[in-house]
Amino acid sequence: MIRIEVPATSANLGSGFDCLGLALTMYNQVWMEEADGVEIISRDGLSIPVDESNLIYWSAKKLYERCSRRLPGLHIEQQSDIPMARGLGSSSACIVAGLLGANRFLGSPLSMQELVNLACEIEGHPDNIAPAFLGGLVTSAMEGGRVHSISVPVSPKIHFAALIPPFELKTEVARGALPEEYSRRDAVYNLSRSALMTAALFSGSLENLRVAVQDRLHQPYRMKFIPGFETVIRMSYELGSLGTYLSGAGPTMISIVDDEGVKIFREHAVAHMEEMGISGWRLEILETDPKGARICID
Ligand code: HSE
Repeated sequence: MIRIEVPATSANLGSGFDCLGLALTMYNQVWMEEADGVEIISRDGLSIPVDESNLIYWSAKKLYERCSRRLPGLHIEQQSDIPMARGLGSSSACIVAGLLGANRFLGSPLSMQELVNLACEIEGHPDNIAPAFLGGLVTSAMEGGRVHSISVPVSPKIHFAALIPPFELKTEVARGALPEEYSRRDAVYNLSRSALMTAALFSGSLENLRVAVQDRLHQPYRMKFIPGFETVIRMSYELGSLGTYLSGAGPTMISIVDDEGVKIFREHAVAHMEEMGISGWRLEILETDPKGARICID
């Protein structure tokens, strides 16, 4: 049996819609072995699909098909610390685990680049998939079915205060709210800020983050799904956030904070939100995962 560990990811980082993402220190673990038939178990009692529609199984099967091999079955055990449908890359983590496991069982016929390409073909965009595989802060572009991505380390001065709401938001729903077309002004607005974001996170030029997270391509259309969105943003800046954005398609909101910010958020964030009637949210202080998904032999 192999164990695969895949990090949570935060996509978009506000302005980098469908192209920026980073890996975080929160993990799903998947134990896998080849079997006759489909056996899927949740180790943490979560309700998950236990048939071929399970995303880990489905992705593994996809890789077998790509290699012209028939998948006889798999025994899968899942432990999912990444909350589902919260904008922290739980679907990508399943896809990455399924592909990595299947590739290992077949003797590693696909390279890392081919795995990333196949995963993005399944997911549709690279901003969660690429950091889940590679770790760090990842900039990606898709061209002709190939993903061009670069992973860079993030300044150790920065931490991520994830405010996770008690409700889910499906990516299809959040994407469905977006317009088909944007103005050149809005395109340039995001382009300039996403470029600033990569440079600021890499270099630790923290004073640029508040501008770098600003976005006109998705957050303005998605905030309606998150009761209290503007209040959380305002509160986060009062508590010293360096930049607050909707993680991926939401609904989790992430504040980039320094060491002092970690202390203040731990002490006050959830209590302040409760006082303002925004209840049931929890806070996780996360760091950047530098390595990405790995197969562990226990
Ligand atoms: N870039 C994607 C989006 C991330 O914002 O819809 C969610 O998977």
